[in-house]
Amino acid sequence: MTVEAAGLSPKTVVAVRDLTPGVKGRIHLDNCGSALMPSPVIAAMQNALQRDAAFGGYVAQEQQEGKLEAGYSSLARLLGGDVSDYAFVGSAVDGWTKAFYSLPLQAGDNIVTAYNEYCSNYIAFLQVKKNRGVEIRVARQAPSGRIDLAHLQSLIDKRTALISISHMPSSSGEINQVEKVGEIARSAGVLYQLDACQSVGHVPVDVGRIGCDILTGTSRKFLRGPRGIGFLYVNEKARSVMEPVVLTNQSAEWSSADDYSLRQDARVFEAWERSVINQLGFSAAIDYLLELGVEAATQQIAKNATYLRKRLPDLKNVTVECPPGAVSAIITLNIAGRLPSDVKSILEDQHIAVKTASVVHTRLDMEHRGIESAVRVSPHYYTSTEDMDTLLTALEAL
Ligand SMILES: Cc1ncc(COP(=O)(O)O)c(C=O)c1O
Repeated sequence: MTVEAAGLSPKTVVAVRDLTPGVKGRIHLDNCGSALMPSPVIAAMQNALQRDAAFGGYVAQEQQEGKLEAGYSSLARLLGGDVSDYAFVGSAVDGWTKAFYSLPLQAGDNIVTAYNEYCSNYIAFLQVKKNRGVEIRVARQAPSGRIDLAHLQSLIDKRTALISISHMPSSSGEINQVEKVGEIARSAGVLYQLDACQSVGHVPVDVGRIGCDILTGTSRKFLRGPRGIGFLYVNEKARSVMEPVVLTNQSAEWSSADDYSLRQDARVFEAWERSVINQLGFSAAIDYLLELGVEAATQQIAKNATYLRKRLPDLKNVTVECPPGAVSAIITLNIAGRLPSDVKSILEDQHIAVKTASVVHTRLDMEHRGIESAVRVSPHYYTSTEDMDTLLTALEAL
């Protein structure tokens, strides 16, 4: 496929749209919720389902062992690190919680996070605060609209057990300075957990460059895989201090009547039973992106985000709700005199899919900015300029 300096060539955009059945007759602008799967992903899953029907799940799994193993290598090719650092899990939250609750957090320890942290992660912080006496320290937003790194650094002390932030918050367009936070974590000798649920497939992500010890993500968003599956990256350094919060017959072998032997790789966090169909679909989605080219695909997403971000402020009835400096393809906005849920329904009647973002998703940030809810628009690389123009016309008409 042809790649232009910034993004995909118009011919390639047509080609990727031809391989995306969901774009026919609809405009899908909820890619940070759940994107449209491309035909190779759908075919991989249909093939796996047919094998299950023809041979039964276990024989079908044996037949596809090579492809299943290759999925771990695909994750490592996409995100860096070693193959042994990766596990497939049920979702981003499933992977994140398994890693987090396996850390040796004790009374008096503190966790350093940021003002735009995701709800599920923050709820887990609150639980360990309540049950174990762990302190939560929140790095504030700088006037530039991004994490105040000097403040984050000042929150770290001898009792800091973890720095845990999201790469991109789910309800605004910021891209957190994850590499800078990685440098801070490394120089302080503190473990660094990064929620990359919104960033994998959206921007280039490399665990080595970022310097994180734990990274989690999902299949269904910018990676364009199926729902119901995600991944967990945990490097050896993090694994060496973790006690897996649950053990399964995949995590360990029952080696004698009174003992078990733990797996030494990240699959210690997996269970034997899983959706082989989803895992193969997810792996096909990663391979599809690798073939398309991560740089070009993510540049095209950025190009589309910029296209919308430039034009939305021209619409008199629209208020863009993202903080200053927001550039990602997660764009939040409100329409004068309309509830976000009504805007979503009206657009759905016109076959345009968007989503609403609520204060409960990133409470610290949205509460601070006085936003209860907003319309959330997220283009992908397969979003055409015509699709975005149709959205802008529809919003203007509201
Ligand atoms: C930043 C962030 N983290 C985690 C999640 C949860 O992902 P999952 O539903 O796959 O567990 C989301 C979902 O929107 C998210 O935006």
